[in-house]
Amino acid sequence: MMEEIWKVDPQLADAVCREIDRQANKLELIASENFASLAVLQAQGCVMTNKYAEGYPGKRYYGGCQWVDVAEDLARERAKELFGCDHVNVQPHSGTQANMAVYMAVLEPGDIILAMDLAHGGHLSHGAPVNFSGQLYKVVFYGVDRRTETIDFDQVRDLARKHRPRLIVVGASAYPRVIDFAAFREIADEVGAYVMADIAHIAGMVAVGLHPSPIPYCEFVTTTTHKTLRGPRGGMIMCRQEFAQIIDKTVFPGIQGGPLMHVIAAKAVAFKEALSPQFKEYQSQILKNAAAMAKTLQDKGFRIVSGGTDNHLMLVDLRGKGITGKEAEGALEEAAITVNKNMIPFDPQKPFIASGIRIGTPAITTRGMKEAEMVAIGEMIARVLEDPSNAKVKKEVAAQVKALCERFPLYPQLQRECAG
Ligand SMILES: Cc1ncc(COP(=O)(O)O)c(C=O)c1O
Repeated sequence: MMEEIWKVDPQLADAVCREIDRQANKLELIASENFASLAVLQAQGCVMTNKYAEGYPGKRYYGGCQWVDVAEDLARERAKELFGCDHVNVQPHSGTQANMAVYMAVLEPGDIILAMDLAHGGHLSHGAPVNFSGQLYKVVFYGVDRRTETIDFDQVRDLARKHRPRLIVVGASAYPRVIDFAAFREIADEVGAYVMADIAHIAGMVAVGLHPSPIPYCEFVTTTTHKTLRGPRGGMIMCRQEFAQIIDKTVFPGIQGGPLMHVIAAKAVAFKEALSPQFKEYQSQILKNAAAMAKTLQDKGFRIVSGGTDNHLMLVDLRGKGITGKEAEGALEEAAITVNKNMIPFDPQKPFIASGIRIGTPAITTRGMKEAEMVAIGEMIARVLEDPSNAKVKKEVAAQVKALCERFPLYPQLQRECAG
């Protein structure tokens, strides 16, 4: 796969090989990342990138679309089977564009959205003031309860009654607990709102039935395809049949031009993989690994927000250890462990400093790591964070990380191509 890049552009080839090496030899604990299969990577690098295919299968604005139509039909049919939805649009270039399409389809500028606060686990595209969603619409935020650190449904209901939103957005980037979609539906029905669930983070678990599905409760469900779903970087919208036309029209020609057919081809491959029995085992292992990691950290005296995790991620509150999220992220980076600093609910720090880190297990589970490795990694994290300025500790942990990564090779074929 790398041969031609080396010939044409050695500078870029070098950067790609270094990135392969980074991914293979460090521990990737960013909850929103994963390692796509070689089949997904190859589909994403295929000739379908050359094709303009504005429109939808069977109804394109360009000739020569018969084979890209096959790819898009495969992606759509497999996604419908995977999630059990009426209609799916696989063209959104990203999760943010999937959300944008839903907003544009059913809202007018100035309409009210009720969504989860970014500082409590929500996402930028759910109405943050720096994002188009916060600029075009009036946004009211709900959050978690101070004591339980789980979604405060009394607050959601009160805010819904008071502001009567047109759309309630459900879903998060940093929420470690099961989301009760039925409870949101009930509140939405009381005030006549639509519900959009953004399952970007939990899509893999939803697909295999290890997290309750939002499909029966929501008019719209959006997701990214590259997180727990382990596909190419991209987005997707599922909706009830009555909204199929307006969603398709809003994606194209509303907010996008030609679809990325190579990415859609790779989505088809990823959905096929996700329909296999091994994918369910994989999702189940992600959950067991997250539980094992959270317990290890708790045993070492770290406070885990909400007392644990039901999904693939956890938030570690570092205030008790006297370090910030920023410092922790930096110290772990030096020890070859990649995490991101993250706000914790009611965080006294600014977002760029933050009081916590977010840890996720999808990527390391893809490498084949199990509970025993989670305990080892949890202990490494604890060792670094107990003494974040100790260079000797960080060096020793980095060596442990390298040895662990070598036991669970990632993209060995690509590494060989880079070495050769
Ligand atoms: C809940 C949620 N929605 C949407 C997105 C946006 O996806 P993208 O980065 O593809 O725009 C993310 C990304 O992290 C997310 O966590």
